[in-house]
Amino acid sequence: MGIDRFSFPTTIHFGPGARKLVADYLLSQGLQRPLLVTDRGIAALPLLSSFLRELSGLQVGIFSDITGNPLASQADRGAEAFRAHDADSVIGFGGGAALDIAKAVALLATHPGKALEYAWDHPQVRPMDRELPCWVALPTTAGTGSEVGRSSVVSDDKTRIKKILFSPKLLAKVVFADPELTVDLPPALTAATGMDALTHNVESYLSPVYHPLCDGIAVEGTRIAARALPQAVHHGKDLTARGEMLMSSMMGAIAFQKDLGAVHACAHALSTVADLHHGLANGVMIDHVMRFNLEAAAAKMAELGRVAGVASEGSEEARANAFIGWLTTLKEQIGIPAKLGQIQGERPITREDIPALVEVASRDLCHQTNPRPCTPADFEAIFAAAL
Ligand SMILES: [Fe+2]
Repeated sequence: MGIDRFSFPTTIHFGPGARKLVADYLLSQGLQRPLLVTDRGIAALPLLSSFLRELSGLQVGIFSDITGNPLASQADRGAEAFRAHDADSVIGFGGGAALDIAKAVALLATHPGKALEYAWDHPQVRPMDRELPCWVALPTTAGTGSEVGRSSVVSDDKTRIKKILFSPKLLAKVVFADPELTVDLPPALTAATGMDALTHNVESYLSPVYHPLCDGIAVEGTRIAARALPQAVHHGKDLTARGEMLMSSMMGAIAFQKDLGAVHACAHALSTVADLHHGLANGVMIDHVMRFNLEAAAAKMAELGRVAGVASEGSEEARANAFIGWLTTLKEQIGIPAKLGQIQGERPITREDIPALVEVASRDLCHQTNPRPCTPADFEAIFAAAL
């Protein structure tokens, strides 16, 4: 047996009102000039103005030039804003995009060059060998779990290909997970981000990497999402359901130290090719990919069905099939389209997109830990079935 290393380092303050602890925390660290990194949508909401009022004693700079899937250029501009404000810390406040940019801004605050030069597959990748300024995370969606993740995913502005900056140094120093920040998220976004969280738990549990600690977290994270997601979508003010989804999303992101699988490879391709929302892409694809995975992962899928509350009778395969059926029903309950062709939007996905989708998905590293090896022909079949 080899020697494994396990680590769960992030301090998390969890509960309604946790955001109110931020100012005291930063001041206790001798920090007074945070740069708050958020997206344009949030910058316009009362959510941000009321949070700013709770940051008394601090001189807060704001960088909010972030829209849609995060771009490398946004991180570069955020780093300029950090220097212009003479900032000493970073507050990430928002969904996955804002938190991923906040990480990259913290990185570039003490490291030379541009964000993409730190992507793991850059030909002359620069080392992350210095300390980062303190950065704290406040998620306003329950999905990516970026607040507890050690990677920042930013797209190359030209190719739109997602690039991964990865280092434990990118971990937030402290997370303030406050469900009150998520209660105004509209149902469609609650559903899409929630499906991302659920997919992280499911795919990391199915990943063959040896990590029983994360397996336990992923199973429990699935159980929590299964009971909380429909409630959070249909009764958005329910703080218990919102808190549970925030917890499930952090659990999913902690668990995916084990890496993910083919659902995420497909979702990354859909974002690259059709600029589809990441959570929505996972939500549409998950049951189609699970049908492909069935022959390689029936026992684990049966277990996920059990914790999701699916009636557990019959053979292992029958119970795994019941889990897939549950996913399909859940999608319907929370308004996630069953198939790619049913997605409303200005950019319909058609049969002509399949070659490009297959190419990007095959190149994506996520499917290397899929329980069943996934060839380009397999991806083609999966996308065709999902269309
Ligand atoms: Fe994801």
